[in-house]
Amino acid sequence: MSLYRQVRPLAFKLPPETAHTIGKRILGGLQSTGPTRAAVRWRYQYRHPSLSIDRFGTTFPNPIGVAAGFDKNAEVLRALSDLGFGFVEAGTVTPYPQEGNSRPRLFRLRNDEAMINRMGFNGDGMEAVRRRLESRPPSETPLGINIGKMNTSDESEALEDYRRVFSRLRPHGDYFVVNVSCPNTPDEFDEDDPEHLRSIFEVLTAENDRGKPILVKIGPESPTESLLELVDIVEAFDLDGLVATNTTTRRDDLTSSDRTEWGGLSGKPLESRSTEVVRTLAENTELPIIGVGGVDSAQSAYDKIKAGASLVQLYTGFVYNGPSTAREINEGLVELLQRDGFDSIEDAVGADLA
Ligand SMILES: Cc1cc2nc3c(=O)[nH]c(=O)nc-3n(C[C@H](O)[C@H](O)[C@H](O)COP(=O)(O)O)c2cc1C
Repeated sequence: MSLYRQVRPLAFKLPPETAHTIGKRILGGLQSTGPTRAAVRWRYQYRHPSLSIDRFGTTFPNPIGVAAGFDKNAEVLRALSDLGFGFVEAGTVTPYPQEGNSRPRLFRLRNDEAMINRMGFNGDGMEAVRRRLESRPPSETPLGINIGKMNTSDESEALEDYRRVFSRLRPHGDYFVVNVSCPNTPDEFDEDDPEHLRSIFEVLTAENDRGKPILVKIGPESPTESLLELVDIVEAFDLDGLVATNTTTRRDDLTSSDRTEWGGLSGKPLESRSTEVVRTLAENTELPIIGVGGVDSAQSAYDKIKAGASLVQLYTGFVYNGPSTAREINEGLVELLQRDGFDSIEDAVGADLA
């Protein structure tokens, strides 16, 4: 039994946000010296040529990344890379520091292998993140930066929020994600309304003179016609891809006691819907898709890849499975590729599509 499986019952006795803070402190300690970094890499990193994939001008050593929200302030990027993740998406980063919602705001639904969160874009703000990224050595694992607006911003202030965070952090990200799908922020207006989306993309493309890849993160609830409309808008603005999906406000078939908490549900119950959204998008666009929602094993990552995802991310599966998550998924992916006669992840992307 892995060490994490042994300590997990203890960690799960702590309130989830406390456990997360302690976990991040441990990662911060591990990434602070050369010898501990080397030891973590030796124990957890797994490389295989068939796992490497190129998308939007970046080479990803493997397709398994950490989803937005885990390292909102870009504090433990090196440790996550040492644990074998192929990329990390920092954020959501807002222009100024923000407290987020009051606690408790994160809940474990153990019976359902899920979590509910209503963090509400808590974070250190773009200047603190920029300072951390400036001291980051180049050529580390690819970095995505997920950008958002302040909770108090109205519709026109929101445009300026996206513009400022993007322009301030632009040199540091390999790709950027516009997060218009957070179910936990108190919006007075519809963030994913097509007109509002067009205004955001106009502002960002005007600001994007160095051609950084910009992707859009969507929620799992959108019906097919809204997804198709979004694809049209994203293609019209020549954006670079889609991230599907964020958490869900649905609560189907849950058994854990905290299932009635409000917020976004992540983990296993989200898996099939997010894969379905990936498939619908992939059937209607050539744009790269990052699949996220309920991934916790090689098979669940492979299902998203075969449905059309070029890259996959996870958050909840990492909390439940611990530090060996990336290695176990990547080892398993190599076996699945070999079993099915694929030479690389690239060959498996969209293999299930008609
Ligand atoms: C505690 C928590 C915080 C999150 N914060 C963000 C965030 O700031 N921005 C964002 O785009 N997604 C955020 N997410 C959503 C995840 O990036 C991901 O889309 C979702 O959890 C589904 O993946 P999973 O089932 O692997 O957790 C958060 C998720 C959790 C559990």
